[in-house]
Amino acid sequence: MINNNYDIKDLSLADQGCEHVDWALTEMPVLRAIHDRFAEERPLAGARISGCLHITTETANLARTLKAAGAELVLCASNPLSTQDDVAAALVQHYHVPTFAIRGEDGGTYYRHIAKALDHRPQLTMDDGADLVSELHKNRSELLAGVIGGTEETTTGVVRLRAMAADKALKFPVIAVNDAMTKHLFDNRYGTGQSTLDGIIRATNILLAGKTFTVAGYGWCGRGIAMRAKGHGAIVIVTEVDPLRALEAAMDGYRVMPMLEAAACSDFIITATGDKNVLDQPHFEVIKDGCVITNSGHFNVEINIPALEKLTVKKHRPRANVESYKLKDGRTIRLLAEGRLVNLAAAEGHPATVMDMSFANQALSIAYLWQQGQGADLENVVHPVPADIDQQVATMKLAAMGIIIDSLSPEQQAYLSSWKEGT
Ligand code: ADE
Repeated sequence: MINNNYDIKDLSLADQGCEHVDWALTEMPVLRAIHDRFAEERPLAGARISGCLHITTETANLARTLKAAGAELVLCASNPLSTQDDVAAALVQHYHVPTFAIRGEDGGTYYRHIAKALDHRPQLTMDDGADLVSELHKNRSELLAGVIGGTEETTTGVVRLRAMAADKALKFPVIAVNDAMTKHLFDNRYGTGQSTLDGIIRATNILLAGKTFTVAGYGWCGRGIAMRAKGHGAIVIVTEVDPLRALEAAMDGYRVMPMLEAAACSDFIITATGDKNVLDQPHFEVIKDGCVITNSGHFNVEINIPALEKLTVKKHRPRANVESYKLKDGRTIRLLAEGRLVNLAAAEGHPATVMDMSFANQALSIAYLWQQGQGADLENVVHPVPADIDQQVATMKLAAMGIIIDSLSPEQQAYLSSWKEGT
């Protein structure tokens, strides 16, 4: 359904989308409180924002918060397979956010949608994976002078932006929302952990108990996935390239070995490294018959699908989100969600409970950037989320969960700031 102001699948899905968005909101008390404060204070009055985010129920609640703050917001998808079409319809019809996102859109449409979001001439950008910022710098550089700053949601995006900043190519400041404690400790670990297992189970309906389950990468996402797979009763293997992380995985109780060895004995392999060709031709040559391979990293580069295609004689689709590759020697490899992030492609992404904190950081960081933009300039590099925002989000989440914590007595505070007292 293309229109100059939006491109979505079907506007008639809007009412259903609203129901789902409101359902998610019940688990987003921090964002609700920020919404109410922003509606009174209007800290983003008149700010033009272009957001390239996964179009989910949680993102719709972030959009409502930014609109309540007075922002003029346009959205496009940050992945061709992650859009919830009913949410896109609700955004257009009920929340009045021009949205360019269709689940399953091809590569050309994906980039055309980013171009439409950029036609908004953003003063602020919100990105998840840095495709919007990258397009802005590569193909729409005439807009750069008008941009005050941006935010980045995910590890992969932060890595790309730091590379741009190191090359002096980044032309405005970006806040790494991913690096806030109240983001990655919860979203990357518990969010990815639960939603990745959710995606694998929805796609395959295979019991994990007793299966051998390999996780490639032991960053925050890998840690969460391994932890949840273990909870399902799987025998968990971790593969790593970083000695510290490998050691941590070993002491957390996982088997650690090279991927070539893991591939030969795994029933499931899930990549969460942020790098390319983590599963490649040599692994396909030894992989266990029937192995389910899937990716939870941001881009669909972690599994070398062209190499897999070359070894394949026949392909079929036994279930939604599953492609069975029959190899020349008779073995079968089962690929989920075309190698795209399985938690958003085959499930619904991270639950609202953790996105509450991630998007509270987004909303507060965007308001901070807008205020900074009106006054002092920030350097054109990647900045951390201001520490007081992180603390504020943790405090608000605890309060919403009804958890009360102790505070230091004056005597304890003095002890912690003194070097004189010993045994
Ligand atoms: N990234 C991972 N899960 C997400 C969700 N539910 N909404 C938006 N972005 C996400």
